[in-house]
Amino acid sequence: MDKKVIKIDFDTIDISKEEPITEPERQYYFIAKARALVKKKADELGRTLTCKVTTFGCQMNQKDSEKLLGILELVGYEQAETEKADFVIYNTCTVRDNANQKVYGRLGYLNGVKRENPNMLIALCGCMMQESEVVEKIKKSYSFVDIIFGTHNIFKFAELLYTRLQSERMVIDIWKGTNDIVEDLPTERKYSFKAGVNIMFGCNNFCSYCIVPYVRGRERSRNPKDIIREIEDLASQGVVEVMLLGQNVNSYGKSLEDPMTFAQLLQEIEKVDGIERIRFMTSHPKDLSDELIEVMKHSKKICKHMHLPLQSGSTRILEKMNRSYTKESYLELAQKIRKAIPDISITTDIIVGFPGETDEDVEETIDVVKKVRYDSAFTFIYSKRSGTPAAVMEGQVPEEINKERFDRLLSVVQQISREMTQRFSDQEVEVLVEEENQQDASLVTGRMSNNIIVHFKADKSLIGKIVKVKLLECKGFYYMAELI
Ligand code: 5AD
Ligand code: SF4
Repeated sequence: MDKKVIKIDFDTIDISKEEPITEPERQYYFIAKARALVKKKADELGRTLTCKVTTFGCQMNQKDSEKLLGILELVGYEQAETEKADFVIYNTCTVRDNANQKVYGRLGYLNGVKRENPNMLIALCGCMMQESEVVEKIKKSYSFVDIIFGTHNIFKFAELLYTRLQSERMVIDIWKGTNDIVEDLPTERKYSFKAGVNIMFGCNNFCSYCIVPYVRGRERSRNPKDIIREIEDLASQGVVEVMLLGQNVNSYGKSLEDPMTFAQLLQEIEKVDGIERIRFMTSHPKDLSDELIEVMKHSKKICKHMHLPLQSGSTRILEKMNRSYTKESYLELAQKIRKAIPDISITTDIIVGFPGETDEDVEETIDVVKKVRYDSAFTFIYSKRSGTPAAVMEGQVPEEINKERFDRLLSVVQQISREMTQRFSDQEVEVLVEEENQQDASLVTGRMSNNIIVHFKADKSLIGKIVKVKLLECKGFYYMAELI
């Protein structure tokens, strides 16, 4: 694993002084303080303390978890393989109810682990913690949890950890929102050659089914100078691929003091030497500009992949979802993208079972799938999120009906996805080698620019490199290939 280079010697920070009030200096100070306590504990036990960060949900959460791990390692914890560790943190997701249920189930297990290890601390953070009912339930029924914080104050983790290490009480710190973005926190990256980069936080769209705007707050764009500086820093450490992260990247820059479009940001990132691939997610169809299509079409670095959530193909349902586009305007957009960039992969998210959805609406969705011909699609059954407008809409659809419609949609999605993947057979393409193949150690696994997975025989020393391969055999959703 690679560290973000933070040029600070935490052992030289004077922790006898009062805490600084500015960030990130304040957190550096608390890292140093917590580090002293963890070192004392490790000396007492005669071993290094261990930690495990478990992530639920999306790429934003994965990115946040890298920040948590960066702090934990600086504090003196060593990463453990399992949750039998001295510090376990769950970074939670609440976009669908099954994510919440998973957390409660696993907390039961953690309680058992904690009984066997009196030194163990358990922390919960992320989207679920932004819901007051969740925090109440944890306080009442899971009182063995040590630290709870939300999505807006992740940067304060070192301070909260120090507070808990010093006292025996549960530490709870949830913010309702924030306009601040704290730069220059440590990060522990999972891969040495690719990295996620936040370009914005929060969401202003209020799709009626979605809890994200309530738990991630209002849309805030990072300053382009900070983004470029981070990407230059990553490139200097050997990163070749960046994934730009935001709930709605197409509205990047609108709220900046000097407004800038997402397409302009991409052009700036393209200039960074060493970066060979640029990905981004997620794009909201209502904000996708012709300027972006034009920039993608001429770019050598922006990957040929567009994740363009459809959610529903029925204009009637789209309106109730507050998506601000129609079936026709979505189809027109998808065709425009395919025409401009013929070898692009278009992928999507679809929800089945939105309140009031009928068989005809589902047929409209299937019709869009057949017309756009998605390279792949994530399909979800609608999950009622309390506090969102859709939760109180009439016509909640029974589970059995949703299940049948979901299966019907899925079989069309899969059939088309297989056919679409097949279209690259026999081509010679560039692949970023990402890891050793999990089943067969003589193979490596990589990704094409359009995100399709490719397996081929090669030495592991190629991991992190972009190589040329010939696609030999399409196996449904992935390829077997040979190095050329
Ligand atoms: N129920 C089901 N799926 C949802 N998503 C968001 N909210 C819900 C919900 N309440 C899906 C959307 C989104 C993806 C990240 O999760 O399709 O694009
Ligand atoms: Fe949720 Fe809609 Fe925002 Fe996506 S764009 S995070 S679906 S509110």
